[in-house]
Amino acid sequence: MTPPLDVDACRRRFPGLTRHVNGRPAAFLDGPGGSQVPQSVIDAVADCLAHRNANDGGAFATSLAVGEVVDAARGAVADLLGAADPDEVVFGLNMTTLTFALSRALARTWRPGDEVVVTRLDHDANVTPWVLAAADAGATVRYLDIDPADCTLRLDLLPDLLNERTKLVAVGLASNAVGTVNPVREVVAAARRVGALVFVDAVHAVPHLLVDVGALGADFLACSPYKFFGPHAGALWGRRDLLERLPAYKVRPAPDSGPGRWMTGTPSFEAIAGTHAAVEYLAGLGGGGDRRASLTAAYAAIRAHETALAARFLDGLAQLPAWRVWGITDPGRSGDRVATFGLTHRAKPAAEVAATLGAQGLFVWSGNFYAAGLIERLGLAPAGMLRVGFLHYNTAEEVDRVLEALATAAD
Ligand SMILES: Cc1ncc(COP(=O)(O)O)c(C=O)c1O
Repeated sequence: MTPPLDVDACRRRFPGLTRHVNGRPAAFLDGPGGSQVPQSVIDAVADCLAHRNANDGGAFATSLAVGEVVDAARGAVADLLGAADPDEVVFGLNMTTLTFALSRALARTWRPGDEVVVTRLDHDANVTPWVLAAADAGATVRYLDIDPADCTLRLDLLPDLLNERTKLVAVGLASNAVGTVNPVREVVAAARRVGALVFVDAVHAVPHLLVDVGALGADFLACSPYKFFGPHAGALWGRRDLLERLPAYKVRPAPDSGPGRWMTGTPSFEAIAGTHAAVEYLAGLGGGGDRRASLTAAYAAIRAHETALAARFLDGLAQLPAWRVWGITDPGRSGDRVATFGLTHRAKPAAEVAATLGAQGLFVWSGNFYAAGLIERLGLAPAGMLRVGFLHYNTAEEVDRVLEALATAAD
């Protein structure tokens, strides 16, 4: 039995959550675009700049210290993702930049006539890098469609998209627009049957779900610390043999072995320090002790809390017939979604509603959230959707507040 999350105690750790707008407390429902950070993350970033500020690789105190920052953060992110080997963790500016770097390297191994598979559900950072890389190599791109009724992947169509020429399947773990959690293990199993590699975009999943790269069986997985209570940065996990072997673009004399092969230029050491602190924050929610075990307990508590928020929100939305929820709404399928909701009103453009809510201190997004293919597939371009996202620091009161605002915002 998972002990419930102490949401008030969590919230007290986030200075950003104390903001007020026009006399009302701000409700941060913009987590899918980026989370707030706890004080411990802010302190870790500041400490790195104050006391460990140097480039790495030198034989003097601050340089050695910053090297330790990177090593320790690799261990933390490995635990976060269930990776056995910290040297399989690469840090970068953000997920998009890391994915472009990897896609260019992979494309150097592709030949004309090879194929890659992307989906209509994914954030464009897990689509266009592969489309451009395929174009560079003369490879063909195939698209896995969705069922527009519930915004789930049409897994039944996947076998027909795969063949012995398929080199890569790129799939998201959770949709940043409509919250669908994809059956990535099944995608991996299908890809393996034809010998294709699998790249997983876990950016939207990591704030909500415990990731286990071993259990998923994929080859690469990317995430973004600024979505899971850390600073603006990206992290990539890759199977060690692939990270060692693939022809990374790099300058001389950058390391030709280890994760440093993929870390072009000087990284944001302070963001890496903050990323480590974000993992420790999450682990702390699970009670301490062994970090992976603590993270497992923490995510169970986070999941239970967010699932309750999602159920409450869906219940309320069922009373608002002017609003349409895109994605899974069946309460019996709560395991197949995270608490991220894409909505449209039958008359009001999403941007107008977002502005009305923003003035009331309800921070929500509108548009396509870079899930451009999905919004086009659903026929919702260019206005897109309104997106309401709940994280573990959101409360039932905030759910009720946004429901009340949605009921009246479109009057
Ligand atoms: C699902 C998903 N993938 C990729 C990205 C891009 O991440 P980054 O901003 O780190 O490049 C985002 C950002 O919103 C996202 O939500």
